[in-house]
Amino acid sequence: MIPVNEPLLGVKEFQYAAECLKTGWISSAGKFIGDFEERWAEYCGMKYGVAVSNGTAALQVAIGCLDLKPGDEVIMPTFTIISCALAAIYNGVKPVLVDADPGTWTMDVSQIESRITSRTKAIMPVHIYGHPCDMESIWELARKYNLTVIEDAAEAHGAEHKGKRCGGLGDISCFSFYANKIITTGEGGMVLTNNEEFAEKARSLRNLCFRQDRRFYHTELGHNFRMTNIQAAIGIAQLERIDELVQKKRWIGQTYSEKLDNVPGLILPVEEPWAKNVYWMYAVVLEENIGMEAIEFMERLREHGIDTRPFFLGIHEQPVFHKMGLFKNERYPVAEMIARQGLYLPSGLTLKEKQINEVADMVISILNTSAYSTSETVLY
Ligand SMILES: Cc1ncc(COP(=O)(O)O)c(C=O)c1O
Repeated sequence: MIPVNEPLLGVKEFQYAAECLKTGWISSAGKFIGDFEERWAEYCGMKYGVAVSNGTAALQVAIGCLDLKPGDEVIMPTFTIISCALAAIYNGVKPVLVDADPGTWTMDVSQIESRITSRTKAIMPVHIYGHPCDMESIWELARKYNLTVIEDAAEAHGAEHKGKRCGGLGDISCFSFYANKIITTGEGGMVLTNNEEFAEKARSLRNLCFRQDRRFYHTELGHNFRMTNIQAAIGIAQLERIDELVQKKRWIGQTYSEKLDNVPGLILPVEEPWAKNVYWMYAVVLEENIGMEAIEFMERLREHGIDTRPFFLGIHEQPVFHKMGLFKNERYPVAEMIARQGLYLPSGLTLKEKQINEVADMVISILNTSAYSTSETVLY
């Protein structure tokens, strides 16, 4: 089986993690935590880093930094992981959705303004599959309506918007370091910001809102979202080789794109002129007229030893939210189409050119047997 993803762990990851075990610094105190926070913030061009237990927690903490009242709203794409909507809901605020852009699959910025109300507190752009959002349009709206921008850069380590790194483009940014992310700590996440008050609040929220002045006396609701020193140690080792990891992802993306360019029935990921795409996962969309949905295509690839994953099902299509009375009659046609027709191909950091060739050849071969390729009216 060619796996959809595999982390690349080296000797340093073992050495640094072993140092924690040898010295006994295995919980959330220890030198690696502060070091990782500082160095990741610096890499992304932000001042403060607050390491947390995962990316979902980072999003929840980020929204929790705002001054919120029940019924407030956060605008986000429907085409994203459920974590974004959960982060709003667990903070007592409402996720308000926009569709995906058909080119980059990130949030369609042309839909944001019509969704802004007097309750809107923030916009949450998500850099999908490693391609940055159109941040300029988002900043313009944020300035005009006095909104906070919370970037979800979980999938975009090292990606750039006009030469500036993702994660350094909002008022607050959030990362995941889950095992399938470009750099990993196993499980883990981080909140970054230039705003000292947000950083202070994020540190407090992650650690049960302990007060500085009186131990075990709490005036706010917090969480235990702490990262361990062992995780941070692995993170440091990964960060030391991030340029190599980002370069490898871009090579995988570019190699697939060369091999699959102009294949009928297949929509490939783009790289806008203002963007550096890190191809976190090499994602493709099957044209609807090939007569095959992604799920069937994935099954065919699996039969040939190729592991893949489907695209996100939009937030507005999640039954759990319908049960709560949310998004019931909302329609977002681009997100609905790509959710059914999209999949991502093996994109792990250990992937070899031979494997990319094998996957690309099989993709082409399956498409050649699809209804699309045998239909005279469509093709020729
Ligand atoms: C865009 C995005 N945001 C947030 C998350 C949540 O991260 P975690 O799995 O670490 O909670 C993910 C996870 O894959 C993600 O892809």
